[in-house]
Amino acid sequence: MASQSTANASAPIDFNSIKNLTITEAKAVDQLIINELSSDVILINQVGHYIIGNGGKRLRPMLLLLAAKALGGANNNHLVLAAVIEFIHTATLLHDDVVDDSDRRRGKESANAVWGNAASVLVGDYLYSSAFEMMVRTGNMRVMEILSKTTTAIAEGEVLQLLNCNNPETTEEKYLEVIARKTAILFSAATRLGAVLSNASTEVEEGLALYGQHLGIAFQLIDDALDYKANQEELGKNLGDDLAEGKPTLPLIYAIQHGNDEEAGIVINAVKNGDRDAFNEVYAVVQSTKAIDYTERRADEEAQKAIDALNVLPDSEYKDALTQLAKFSVQRNY
Ligand code: IPE
Ligand code: IPE
Ligand code: MG
Ligand code: MG
Repeated sequence: MASQSTANASAPIDFNSIKNLTITEAKAVDQLIINELSSDVILINQVGHYIIGNGGKRLRPMLLLLAAKALGGANNNHLVLAAVIEFIHTATLLHDDVVDDSDRRRGKESANAVWGNAASVLVGDYLYSSAFEMMVRTGNMRVMEILSKTTTAIAEGEVLQLLNCNNPETTEEKYLEVIARKTAILFSAATRLGAVLSNASTEVEEGLALYGQHLGIAFQLIDDALDYKANQEELGKNLGDDLAEGKPTLPLIYAIQHGNDEEAGIVINAVKNGDRDAFNEVYAVVQSTKAIDYTERRADEEAQKAIDALNVLPDSEYKDALTQLAKFSVQRNY
């Protein structure tokens, strides 16, 4: 349908009705997650249940399950790998909040705010290791290859980002390199694995991987816009954490390039110094240069590329849901 082919269609996306398409499988995935979190080391249970039981959109497992269902159905290995992907995602969040010094996550105090940095790093390591233990149980070398490459790339993305921090000369291209690795590669692994476990053709596998990659970039572009413009309660995270870390995200890169000398100077100094106190001033420049609009436009383009990549799939309600999720990633407020 024409109305489904444009990423920026203004009709609001009903995330819950998309979620309902995989609700039975998602419950089984949650059960696997809960089983896997039980350790006789109490702190692992506490921190693990705190962060995982705390909600989160479960978007990455949903993508894997929708890809599977678009290709005929989800088998047990799809469920296991969906849990693995959410474990890896959660491990990165535990580490990320330490690195970013963030004290709110999923509408509550972050794990590092409650238990400290050491506990968050170590339990994050536990989640990573559990994820690998679970994936080995599938006995599928291709799966292990995909996921080990994925976690290596995520780590590279995080380190690249560290190198860009406090550098106001970071370009849009360098920023895109970071988000492709730290975020998009996991989305891409999720949809690729859906295809691999369904024994799909190379063409379908690559199409779904491409969808995930573009979707992940759109998702992170919007995440970086939301760090300036969201409603904090709805987002469940603090605004301004990126500025506090001196992260040159696209809204700031664009504001530096398009502001007048005085405006650019404000943003440059805030990035150099990681200055949360400059948030209001920086936000004014972001507004006057329309940097959020630009970031959203870029996200929209990526979402459209994601949707285009879905043409390898036969028509189904699951394919439609993947299309809707690309639009949701741009429209979302949380
Ligand atoms: C947060 O991801 C980290 C980013 C890649 C921006 P989500 O927004 O999917 O986090 P949860 O799982 O819903 O909390
Ligand atoms: C995404 O970056 C983090 C990972 C991919 C691990 P952010 O640092 O922007 O994520 P949030 O905003 O803290 O969720
Ligand atoms: Mg962060
Ligand atoms: Mg963020």
